[in-house]
Amino acid sequence: MCGVFSCEVRVFFCPRAKKRREDPQPGALDRSKKRLTHGTHIGRERGDQPHYTHAFESGKEKKKKKNGESCSVFIHISSLRTHARKPAERIKHHTHKKRRFGKKEHQWGIVPRKMSSSNSDNMKTAMTIIGVSGSLYVAVKLSWFRKNPFHVFSGKTGAMSKSLVDAGIQSYNAFFEQEDGKGVGAKILSTPDFVNKFYSLITDFYEYGWGESFHFAAREKGESFEKSIIRQELAIAENIGLKPGMNVLDLGCGVGGPMRNIVKGTGGKVTGITINEYQVGRCETLNKAAKLEHLTEIVQGNFMDLTKVFKDRKFDGAYAIEAACHASNTQALYEQVFAVLKPGASFASYEWLRTDKYDPSNKTHVDIVDGIAEGNALPEVRTIEDCIQAAKNAGFDVTLTFDRATTGGIPWQQAMKSARRAAYLTHLLTGLLEFIGFAPKGTQAVHTMLLKAAVNLEKSGDLGIFSPMYLIVMKKPLSA
Ligand SMILES: C[S@@+](CC[C@H](N)C(=O)[O-])C[C@H]1O[C@@H](n2cnc3c(N)ncnc32)[C@H](O)[C@@H]1O
Repeated sequence: MCGVFSCEVRVFFCPRAKKRREDPQPGALDRSKKRLTHGTHIGRERGDQPHYTHAFESGKEKKKKKNGESCSVFIHISSLRTHARKPAERIKHHTHKKRRFGKKEHQWGIVPRKMSSSNSDNMKTAMTIIGVSGSLYVAVKLSWFRKNPFHVFSGKTGAMSKSLVDAGIQSYNAFFEQEDGKGVGAKILSTPDFVNKFYSLITDFYEYGWGESFHFAAREKGESFEKSIIRQELAIAENIGLKPGMNVLDLGCGVGGPMRNIVKGTGGKVTGITINEYQVGRCETLNKAAKLEHLTEIVQGNFMDLTKVFKDRKFDGAYAIEAACHASNTQALYEQVFAVLKPGASFASYEWLRTDKYDPSNKTHVDIVDGIAEGNALPEVRTIEDCIQAAKNAGFDVTLTFDRATTGGIPWQQAMKSARRAAYLTHLLTGLLEFIGFAPKGTQAVHTMLLKAAVNLEKSGDLGIFSPMYLIVMKKPLSA
């Protein structure tokens, strides 16, 4: 089975496959290159048993051949249907085989009994395996999973047990369903519970698709995605004047990507808070792996209750990267931050806000922003004025307001556009894995929600009606 798996995956995606199809006489020996080509008819060299198959060899194998060492020959299984004389011969003699080129002799692999009794059902099974393994191969190679995609579905380290995923996504969707720009309405105070559910469902998807930092960045032309992310993080740290010896708060720290980059870049200490327990565990693991435990601390809690979580503790500064948008009330959040800061300390936030280009009478604008809120666990999407006023009402002096989305040569939404094809492939993969029972029921619905969010974010960026990185810097007066 394994042999068939590896054989087929390699042949299926072999760049030479096209050439083989175009070859008018498969089976020809390319003497000018002194090697077997695709479609080379190697079966007859075996003498006593008929073998009709196609073979190819890689450059590495070609080298080996010259030295007279054995090398692998991979079989194109679709040729079996056409050429094998009896059904039983179709797979029996056509698995991963070895051929000793130098000595012109063959070593044929032994086929498991199950596969030897080939019939049309077995062929269907084989083709299904090929389809599944091929899809997996493409998804792993091209998808937005940058690490091990199986982790996402394993249920071993994921945030939510498999049996709860389906109910989780359904209750999430019911809570965040929005219309006409009205937000979640009277339910708003329950927001943290559903935000927590959201991050239990999607933290692995984000981490394995986007990276350890769950935010956008203003990216310059020629700059890598990763560098733009770090620059975005260091910019916020600079705005609150973080230096060695200071301890600042990271509100809604995710799995700590920004925290780690910021402590490395500044030498200051960061204490992160997130509502999601699973993120706390991931963050601790990653901080430890990065040997940054002495400069980092992580706490599970609700940032709407900072005074309870940190009691009499005061910080030298605070920042929030694309997290305050989840607050059930911006002013109430800012008041909490104000209370845990030392006088003279600064708080900077990258906010998700509607811009001046947003027109509440334009149905397209309204639907796009509703879609963003639904797919990203936002109780509502506020305006720039709402947030600046909230900062002032909380007692802060607002020292800087600036839309970073207007900077950088590459629009922030481009990162999603570039990943679109891969995202659709991942979508197919989630459906497939759910269908065969490997991924928990509801996995594809989670991905549907993320896709919808991505599509609306892209549109909002293209229209300029929304910014995910509107920077507001505020300072607690020395007298406070
Ligand atoms: C979009 S993620 C950003 C994470 C992180 N700032 C980053 O850029 O990687 C939003 C974060 O806010 C956290 N969050 C949302 N609501 C929260 C609340 N009420 N209390 C604490 N954390 C919250 C989520 O758990 C999540 O970690």
